[in-house]
Formats: sequence, structure tokens, C-alpha cells
Amino acid sequence: MKRYHLTTFGCQMNEHDSERMKGMLDSLGYAEVERRDDADLILFNTCSIRESADNRFVGHLGEAKRLKAEDPERVVGVGGCWSQSVKEKVFERFPFVDVAFGPGQIPKLAEFLTSDSLTAQGYFEFESFPGHLPPKRARAFQGWVQISVGCNCVCSYCIVPSTRGREVSRPAGDLVAEVERLAADGVREVTLLGQNVNAYGRDLPRGSKVTFAELLGMVDAVEGVERLRYTSPHPKDMREDVVRAHAELSSLCEHIHLPLQSGSTRVLKAMRRTYDRGRYLDRVALIRELVPDCAITTDIIVGFPGETEAEFEETLEVVEEVRYDSAFTFVFSPRRGTEAADLPDQLSHPVKRERMERLVEAVQRRAHERSQRFVGRTVEVLVEGPSRTDASRLRGRTRHNKAVNFEGAAEPGELTLVDVASATSQTLAGVQHAGRTLAAA
Ligand code: SAH
Ligand code: SF4
Ligand code: F3S
Repeated sequence: MKRYHLTTFGCQMNEHDSERMKGMLDSLGYAEVERRDDADLILFNTCSIRESADNRFVGHLGEAKRLKAEDPERVVGVGGCWSQSVKEKVFERFPFVDVAFGPGQIPKLAEFLTSDSLTAQGYFEFESFPGHLPPKRARAFQGWVQISVGCNCVCSYCIVPSTRGREVSRPAGDLVAEVERLAADGVREVTLLGQNVNAYGRDLPRGSKVTFAELLGMVDAVEGVERLRYTSPHPKDMREDVVRAHAELSSLCEHIHLPLQSGSTRVLKAMRRTYDRGRYLDRVALIRELVPDCAITTDIIVGFPGETEAEFEETLEVVEEVRYDSAFTFVFSPRRGTEAADLPDQLSHPVKRERMERLVEAVQRRAHERSQRFVGRTVEVLVEGPSRTDASRLRGRTRHNKAVNFEGAAEPGELTLVDVASATSQTLAGVQHAGRTLAAA
């Protein structure tokens, strides 16, 4: 039996694509191994969102080169966004790579492996969604469902539109059928994935158009789905029907990830985000009004070209005002082929680093304050397994997407109740509730 090793970088899209790759390799009779040294097929699913992502991956490739030199029979394959962004150049820079493919070409890996081809092959068309490939899920009780591929936005800093192509929505019927299969297979939490999920459906043919809010309702209605999440919505397309769904659909969790990027209208314009600070804060006000206890999280970029101290402070103001439950913060990284990479006034590293430190301080302070509201409450937790820091305790997540470490007894995949005793910016801690089972579960 042939053995493979797959390393995944990047976002949930890539993690999900990797599940599809693994499912496909299983069906070809390959077995997954833990150590790269033991593999006949060494695979990477790459990301190129920031320079640091590129560097991390290229470090790993060095090891693949050594292993290939030890045993030239080994096959080295590179898939994903980095691969797509460099295309055939991957073979010039790394001649030991046998096969390279973009995110839309996962099934081509199977073709390559089952052919007698001895020459290096690259597959970079935006062609197919790998929906027909069986996924191999990391956790039995959690499933991802990709509702669209690609992105039609033109955010000036972002490489994704060039690595994932134009936006294509999958028909709602296919998605519901996939969710039903997952539910029948024991999945209790479903996360819908797309680069701009609330643009979902606009490209579907007339007559079968379904809005994102309608899709949420259709998935909520599937028996067995206890929790429904999605990522990411775009503030420009965040409409009241979607916010309202959080109040009305029982499975839809009280958490909205609403990427801010910058709190300055001038910078947002240069980023081509197509909303301004006012419109963003308006969306937040709507969420607070309709779903008062909703967790709000975000993505923020500091040090965009030309960002002034005053503009950066506007971002800090939004962080103070919104009081995010958590935020992913990034230093602007110029990406090949993007508009922002060629803008004048690129900021120096020390300036970017200094702003990042101040941003992180504000984010953490606010998140810490915000999470105190859970102390003393009894929250529903989806159990994931033992705690990472203390194996005698359990770990899980709340509907608000907070990690919880707690004392108690429960199986992974079980929904239980936890009395929260303390909270940091990142995690809650507590004890399983005395009458631990849920009436509804
Ligand atoms: N489509 C999603 C996610 C895009 S990538 C969305 O629009 O929300 C995830 C995050 O990476 C982005 O939200 C952004 O904050 C960050 N990011 C993207 N390109 C970047 C760059 N060139 N430099 C720094 N951060 C970047
Ligand atoms: Fe990138 Fe913007 Fe599309 Fe998100 S919405 S993937 S940031 S271009
Ligand atoms: Fe995701 Fe990285 Fe591609 S964040 S979409 S894997 S560039």
C-alpha cells in the first residue's frame, strides 16, 4: 500500500480542500502516515495570503527535497493558493516537484497519480469544485460545507481573487443534500464556507436563485444540525435578513465574524472594500439591536500603504467602540500582483510593528472585558476532547465560539452545559453543570 503525508497551510478553505484530497487518496488506496519520512507521496496544500505563509511553506519544501534525493521514487506534490500564484514557475524554482495544482484542480492529482506520466505536471485552470470527492473529516461531529468558490471582490491587498478565481455558487439543492449526508453521518455542527458568503446565490441561474439568508433557513431545517456557523461575510453585503436569522434560527450560533480591515474611511477606500466606517458601525449597531448578546469578531490589517498615525487611531477607536470578542490582526504584507503592493508610501517595519502592538493591546483588553459577561452563566458547550493544557479537564466551544476548559465527563461531539467560573480574553473556565444533559439534546 502506498503512503502519503499531507501538510496544510492557510485558511479553512484549504483545510476543507485537504479533507477532499485525503478522501480522494483513501479511495485510491493510499494510507495516511504521521511522518513525512515514511511517505511515498509528499503533499503540501499551500497558502499565499501573507509573506510569512510563503516562507513557512518554503522551509518545509527543503525537507521534501532532501527526502526526494534519498529516494527518487517518492512523489512530491504542491497544491493550493501559493502553487496557483506561481504556476509553472514552481518547477523552475523547485525542480524536484513532480506535480503542482491550484485549488480548483484537486481531482487532477488523482489523474496524475494513476497515469504513467514521468514528467512534471502543472494544473492551474479554475474548473471544478471537488464536491464529488468524499471528504475525510478531522472531527466526526464537525463538518465544513463550501457554498461558493472564488471571490469577485477586488480588495487591493488581497491575492485570493487571483488564486481562487471568480465567484461561483453551488446550487442550494446540492448544499442541502450535502448537509443531510453530513447530519446522517453524525455531524452536529456545520460551518458554511466562502470568501464572501453573503454574496451567495447571486450568480445562480434565474429560477433557482436562493439568497444567503434563505440558504441559512434551509440548512437550519435539516434534522440533526444543532449548530450552524459561516465564514466570512463581507460588511458591504451584510443585510438585515442575515442578522435577523441569528435571532430566529435555533441552530444559527450567536457569533458573527465581520472583517473590519481598517477603521479609516480613507484607508477602506484605498483597500477597495466599498464600505466606509459609518456603514460598518451601522452593521454593528444592527447586530447589537437584533441579537444583543451576539459575539462579534473581526480581521484587521495595520500598516496599509499610506496609513497615517491619525488613520491608524481611527482603527483603534473602532476597536474600542465595537468591543470585539476577538480579532485576528495582521501586518500588511505586499503580495505579488496586487494593487496595494505597488502603492507608494509603504510603511517601515518598525512603524508597522509599533502599531500592531498597540492594536493587540486594545483588542485583548476589550476581549477580556467582553468575556467577563459569561462568568456566572451556564453555557452550552460542544465537547471537543481533553483540554490541551490539562488532560484531566475537557475542552469545547460555546455557541459564541469561545473555547472552554472545564471539569466533567463527556464524550467528544456531546453537547453539555458548563457553569462558567472565570474568563480570559481567549478562553472560559468552569465546571460541568449539575444537571448536565440538555433538555433538547
Ligand atoms: N475572504 C475573507 C478572508 C480573506 S483572507 C474576507 O474577506 O474576510 C483573511 C484575512 O487576511 C483578511 O480578512 C485580511 O485581514 C488578511 N489579509 C489578506 N491579505 C492580506 C495582506 N496582503 N496583508 C495582510 N493581511 C492580509
Ligand atoms: Fe480577499 Fe477581499 Fe475577497 Fe476577502 S473579500 S477574499 S479580502 S478580495
Ligand atoms: Fe486561504 Fe491562504 Fe488561499 S488564506 S484562500 S489558503 S491564500
